[in-house]
Amino acid sequence: KHPLNIIKMKKMKTDGVPLSMLTAYDYPSALLAEEAGVDLILVGDSLGNVVLGYDTTLPVTIDDMVYHTRSVKRGAQNTFIIADMPFMTYHGSVDETLRGVRRLMQEGQAHAVKMEGGLEICAAVSAVVAAGVPVLGHIGLTPQSVNMIGGYRIQGKDAKDAQRLIDEAKALEAAGAFGIVLELVTEEVAAAISKAVSIPTIGIGAGRYCDGQVLVFHDVLRYASPYREKRFVKTYADVGSLIREGISSYVREVKDRSFPAEEHVFNADETVLESLYGG
Ligand code: KIV
Ligand code: NA
Repeated sequence: KHPLNIIKMKKMKTDGVPLSMLTAYDYPSALLAEEAGVDLILVGDSLGNVVLGYDTTLPVTIDDMVYHTRSVKRGAQNTFIIADMPFMTYHGSVDETLRGVRRLMQEGQAHAVKMEGGLEICAAVSAVVAAGVPVLGHIGLTPQSVNMIGGYRIQGKDAKDAQRLIDEAKALEAAGAFGIVLELVTEEVAAAISKAVSIPTIGIGAGRYCDGQVLVFHDVLRYASPYREKRFVKTYADVGSLIREGISSYVREVKDRSFPAEEHVFNADETVLESLYGG
């Protein structure tokens, strides 16, 4: 099976076939995501929250992203992989931006990168696309700018905000982005953006009319996550409880000596008993 590519993704939008995207951060999560048939894997800098235990995505580095992207690649050889450019790695010189992108593509072996922002990053998007690397945009709630936004707020609530988001989406399309993530955008505005551009929109907390959906691995599976319940998340399995129960059974059996049992041990032949304890 071949991974999807950006030409097919655009055709899926035209044909009305939704794109399914899930984050993954390491070999086992990538293996499971690929086996389950996701269209796209995002190595999100949300790994800062759900894997590394930070409060925000700001501390995540290019080194972190390279390390995790390489692990994901080993687990999902046949899935299109997008790696997040971390905080402040695409706002300086084009040289610096391209250096980070090159590391994600060469060392991480991603197929594409994702960048947060609107008009202010369009020059960086064009430079990366000109280097032959597909770029996924990301507008609406952009967690790397949480300190400017003043919290994790819903975007696109009024007419002015709606127009700003539509303008950003059009600018990203013109800059060469192959798609756009819409995060925490009102359903009406996400629908309007999806109509206004010919590249696929992939929503998270952006309603029913996006061209695809993305969720965070740990949210979908209730795998230990530092967050409270989120309205836009649907939990499809409670893996966190299964893991906790499994580990506590292991601890209990070690303590009461029911593990290891006879079937788990290796035995020597009789000569050993003779030599150890005498005949
Ligand atoms: O880092 C991430 O997981 C993301 C998605 C929420 C789109 O950027
Ligand atoms: Na991200």
